[in-house]
Amino acid sequence: METKPSENKTLTTDFLPLNGTDYVELYVGNAKQAAYFYKSAFGFQSLAYAGPETGVRDRVSYVLIQNKVKLVLTTPLHPDHPISGQLTKHGDGVKIIALWVDDAYDAFLQTTSRGAETYMEPQTLEDDYGILKMSGIYTYGETVHLFIERKNYSGAFMPGYKKWESHYNPEPVGLLYVDHCVGNVGWNQMNKWVKFYEDVMGFKNILTFDDKQISTEYSALMSKVMSNGNGYVKFPINEPAEGKKKSQVEEYLEFYGDEGVQHVAIATNNIVETVTNLQNRGVEFLKVPNTYYDDLESRVGKIEEDIEPLKELGVLVDRDEEGYLLQIFTKPVEDRPTLFFEIIQRKGAKSFGAGNFKALFEALEREQDARGNL
Ligand code: FE2
Repeated sequence: METKPSENKTLTTDFLPLNGTDYVELYVGNAKQAAYFYKSAFGFQSLAYAGPETGVRDRVSYVLIQNKVKLVLTTPLHPDHPISGQLTKHGDGVKIIALWVDDAYDAFLQTTSRGAETYMEPQTLEDDYGILKMSGIYTYGETVHLFIERKNYSGAFMPGYKKWESHYNPEPVGLLYVDHCVGNVGWNQMNKWVKFYEDVMGFKNILTFDDKQISTEYSALMSKVMSNGNGYVKFPINEPAEGKKKSQVEEYLEFYGDEGVQHVAIATNNIVETVTNLQNRGVEFLKVPNTYYDDLESRVGKIEEDIEPLKELGVLVDRDEEGYLLQIFTKPVEDRPTLFFEIIQRKGAKSFGAGNFKALFEALEREQDARGNL
């Protein structure tokens, strides 16, 4: 009996403690122009820059920030650069979901000893602002998790980057932190990646949606939500399911040419204000029919917000045992129907808006149909 407490301790010890998402890096065709888009449309601020001027000869990277959300936009400078091949294949999209850790060397050891494939051996970078340690492993497709240890670093971003001062600083729109990042994986691959996050990264499967819960008349998908120990990092994983027509996940896989990140959800404390701002700046959102709002209160109960502004903006509402949430999805932010963003405001709810899936996917299918891909 005396061994019990230590047994429990072993069971509950998180072998990969994460402090949250450090940054999300997109490989894009033109980082300079993409940076302008994310500043102008999404209210990000200039943070750091790397390129030939900072001694990086083969690529440029612009780092943008809004509260705790950091976006890195990277473009290779030569056609034979490895990133150029990835861009040709995928188009613009998320390459790296970087996770903030206290020990990047240990994170690498813990995950690779459990079967993770190495992307970057642990390394220590140093400049006048201190030392930053990092390492990295592959996840689905060509997507990567970097482990970033910055407790002894006080620079703007990391060694190799310089602070980026810009005279063009559009107002932020209230984006606070990355709530979750969703991956689309291939047929019958969801459980493989669920197991990867469980075994290699110590995540837990906190929610599961089968194809009956996520289907419309035409198409279906399945989804499992993986969360790390403290719940700061959540990765839902989607796979397509059989339907009468092509699933949105299949459309993604076809145009991205691989498994990859479908959407990044960013939290706000005032979704009406944030989305009003985003729409005024040209961000396009998926719209559900107005009838969605007719019986909203009977579906989700009393909410603090007025229905009318939600209806005008197209903000969706869902409730679980712990509270409710408000959410809305952008259209894809590049020409291929691949990566998009979600704006989410949680009012107690810890779920992902399952009650909205049907209305939402019908809206998605109208877009898919308009592209001739349904
Ligand atoms: Fe989401």
